[in-house]
Amino acid sequence: MQTPKIIAFANQKGGSGKSTSAAHAAFWLAQKGLSVMLVDADGQQSSSAWLNELGLDYKVLIDPEQLFESLPAFSDDYDVVVVDGPGSLSEVTKAILTRCDLVLVPVVSQKMLPVTKLLRFLSETMQLIRRFD
Ligand SMILES: Nc1ncnc2c1ncn2[C@@H]1O[C@H](COP(=O)(O)OP(=O)(O)OP(=O)(O)O)[C@@H](O)[C@H]1O
Ligand SMILES: [Mg+2]
Repeated sequence: MQTPKIIAFANQKGGSGKSTSAAHAAFWLAQKGLSVMLVDADGQQSSSAWLNELGLDYKVLIDPEQLFESLPAFSDDYDVVVVDGPGSLSEVTKAILTRCDLVLVPVVSQKMLPVTKLLRFLSETMQLIRRFD
């Protein structure tokens, strides 16, 4: 399997651990010696605040078109790009799902059910990508 360059954390469920996981993943990858950029697409901007404290690179991007354009460009400049997604199934999430190599979906065990919505959204996005390939 090819090493994923753009790793996204997504789940429309608020408070499922996207920002926490994204910030920890970015820090862990940076500690391994990789150059890492965290893209904060969450309006609350908690992960970028944590990365700012840690002195790691981050960018706040909440515009879907900008995300769509910028993610591949960032992946040319960094070993890994970690994306912290918003708590919604929006155009922003669609842009992230379209551009990422790997999506990780943090879930709280009692909140498994709404994940089916994200999986349906992911499958629709994949169909969209295939249509343009
Ligand atoms: N693995 C974990 N174990 C216990 N608590 C956690 C874990 N991951 C996150 N939390 C806690 O859960 C809360 C929500 O986490 P977080 O902000 O990462 O969720 P989120 O999915 O980014 O939310 P939002 O959709 O609102 O952006 C925080 O208080 C965080 O400290
Ligand atoms: Mg968040």
